[in-house]
Amino acid sequence: MRPQERIEELKRARNAVILAHNYQVPEIQDIADYVGDSLGLALQASQTEADVIVFCGVDFMAESAKILNPEKTVLHPEPQAKCPMAAMCSVEGIRMLKKDFPKADVVAYVNTSAECKAEADVCCTSSNAVKVIDSLESDLVIFIPDENLASCAQRDTDKDIIMWPGYCPTHDAITKEKIEAIKKEHPQAVLLAHPECSPEVIDIADYVCSTEGMINFAKASDKSEFIVGTETDMIHRLSKEVPDKTFYPVKGAVCPTMKLITLDNIISALETLTPEVIVDPEIAERAREPLRRMLEIGRA
Ligand code: 13P
Ligand code: SF4
Repeated sequence: MRPQERIEELKRARNAVILAHNYQVPEIQDIADYVGDSLGLALQASQTEADVIVFCGVDFMAESAKILNPEKTVLHPEPQAKCPMAAMCSVEGIRMLKKDFPKADVVAYVNTSAECKAEADVCCTSSNAVKVIDSLESDLVIFIPDENLASCAQRDTDKDIIMWPGYCPTHDAITKEKIEAIKKEHPQAVLLAHPECSPEVIDIADYVCSTEGMINFAKASDKSEFIVGTETDMIHRLSKEVPDKTFYPVKGAVCPTMKLITLDNIISALETLTPEVIVDPEIAERAREPLRRMLEIGRA
C-alpha cells in the first residue's frame, strides 16, 4: 500500500484532520486536508470537528492548535520541528520589558512559545499585525519576537513599537543582492516579500504579505511573473493554484525544521497517537485569550 493510502485509511479510523503549513514539502501538502498560513491554520484548528489534529508544521503552530483545542488530541509528527525564531524569545525578557514600559501593551507574533504567549495581551500573524496593533488601547506596544515584522508594521501604524531583536534565519537568507540578481534575469517579475524579510528587501518589494496573501495576490494580479520572497516550498502551492503564472524562488530560503515532517512520521503518529502536543493547562489557559483575541480580529 502506498503511504498516501495508508494515511487516508488511518485518518478515517482516527477521525483525524491533517493541517499543513505552506512550507511543508510538496508530498505533505498534497495529502493535507488544509494547507495555509499561520492564521488560516489556527482558524481551521479552532473550527475542526475531528477528534485528532495532525499538525504538519513547526512547534508553535502545533502548540497553538492544542491551546485552542484542549480537549482534542493534537499530534506533532516530529517534535524536533521547532522554529528558531520562536526560541529567541524568553519570559524573563518580556517581564523585564513590561517592568520598564508598564503602560505598553504586549503583542506576541504567533511564532512564540505558549509561555511567551501567556505574557501577551494579544497575538498576531504576518497577515494581521498592523490591524492587531491598531486595535490596542495603548499608544505604546512591545512586539515579540520578530524585529523585521515589527519594523514592517511600524511603517503603517502611528503607535510606537518596542521591538524584540529576534529574526528568522530562513528569511535572513533572502538578500537584496539575490533579489537583484533574479530581477536582472527577469526584469518584469513582481517581488512578493514576506514581512519577516529584512527592511532593505521590504524597501524594494512590490507587495508585502503573509504566505496566504501571496496566493491571493498572484491570483488577482494581471502580472504573470513573480519573485517569491519567502520559503521555497511556497512555490508548490502557488504553481498548483495559479498554474498559468511563473514563480521564481530565492535560493537558500529553506526552513530546515519544516522539512522534518515526513509521510512516514505522519503514519507513525496516526498509528500510535504520539507524539502528542502537551501544554501545561495553566499556561494554556493564559495563552488562549491572546490567541482568541487574534482570531476575532481576523485577517487585515
Ligand atoms: P505565515 O503566517 O505567513 O504563513 O508565516 C509563518 C512563518 O513562520 C513564516 O516564516
Ligand atoms: Fe520559523 Fe522562519 Fe521557519 Fe517560519 S521560516 S517557521 S519563522 S524559522
